[in-house]
Amino acid sequence: MTDATTPKNDRLLRALRREPVDCTPVWLMRQAGRYLPEYRATRQRAGSFLGMAKNPDIACEVTVQPLARFDLDAAILFSDILTIPDAMGLELYFVEGEGPKFRHPVRDAASIAKLAVPDMETELRYVMDAIRTIRRELDNRVPLIGFSGSPWTLACYMVEGGGSDNYSRIKALALNDPKALHQLLSVNTDAVIAYLSAQRAAGAQVLQVFDTWGGVLSPSMYREFSLPYLTRIAHELQRGVLRQAQDERGLGQAQVLRQTQDERDHGTPLILFGKGNAPYLEALAASGAEGVGVDWLVELSEAARRTQGKVALQGNLDPAILYGSPDAIRAQVRNTLDSYAEGNGGSREGHVFNLGHGLSPDMDPEHVRALVDAVHEFSRR
Ligand code: CP3
Repeated sequence: MTDATTPKNDRLLRALRREPVDCTPVWLMRQAGRYLPEYRATRQRAGSFLGMAKNPDIACEVTVQPLARFDLDAAILFSDILTIPDAMGLELYFVEGEGPKFRHPVRDAASIAKLAVPDMETELRYVMDAIRTIRRELDNRVPLIGFSGSPWTLACYMVEGGGSDNYSRIKALALNDPKALHQLLSVNTDAVIAYLSAQRAAGAQVLQVFDTWGGVLSPSMYREFSLPYLTRIAHELQRGVLRQAQDERGLGQAQVLRQTQDERDHGTPLILFGKGNAPYLEALAASGAEGVGVDWLVELSEAARRTQGKVALQGNLDPAILYGSPDAIRAQVRNTLDSYAEGNGGSREGHVFNLGHGLSPDMDPEHVRALVDAVHEFSRR
């Protein structure tokens, strides 16, 4: 049973509230994945990535694999951002070496008009079951992070039908039929809010939105097609509007009671991560989210100065640093920690250490260990 206590390791929760911690918390995007031999072994047994993600016991197994190896301060649900469009009927599949694809992309107003918010406890039940299973397995050692793609980033995959080099189809839609694109972003936003609310009810203790492709937009297009939807998510999650609606629809008190005392006191923090979001840090800090995740193209000192303590900052080591030697990695970790403190009036409070984007399959687990240990060693108060 998930009991009603704060996780034993609450560094991440405290850092997101900008409270003092004994050392800076660290977790890594894509911390579960192909760079770990134990992940590859499980994957061999399970067959496919989607087969893993849709099986709560396997999703739980791979979620905790990196925690068994490294001194990480959080677990992140093993799943994918593309579960929402899959549940909307677009049919997600993977081609080896080519990444995710959809069998039924949406490219015009007519197909967009047919989209609806999926039901969280039926069509996406496997995600909620995975969260409940992981919470039991974690037994409150560290907090569990739930996540979703941003409305814009989901729309990129839904319109392009997969990854893209130039986003030609969705940018053409933005120019030729902005009303249809706004309708797509709007249904995606409703789905993201319902999805994150359901994850929170199932036991996720921190929520992160990945706006991976926000940075491919010009500033005026970002302010029209991504930012307002991120802000709506932050506001509605805070007000718990959909949470309440969902409870009324029968999610029930059982899930609500799973909330820890900590969550009842403080709410569930939200982190908005975006690649290429440096131009918008002031706006993101005013969005209502507790944390903003940044990539490595901005100095953390500058990011801290520009956000003025309004949010916690997460990041932002260039993932390619992991191709360096352990000594080089340690030096870069120190620089990143010090850069944050420099811009934050000399204090390390409000910093969550992470990469600026995810780990890659060809990275050395021993280098990951050097990174994680260096964060704790150099930031110990
Ligand atoms: O961070 C974690 O450890 C949690 C798990 C997680 C995955 N995907 C697992 C995964 C998370 C948070 C994601 C999010 C995700 N998925 C994003 C946003 C984050 C980002 O990286 O910017 C995006 C854009 C996707 C879409 C997606 N899914 C891609 C581009 C790929 C890679 C395809 C490939 O062939 O490498 C996936 C598949 C995927 N999602 C894998 C994992 C571990 C690889 C699965 C495998 O081949 O075993």
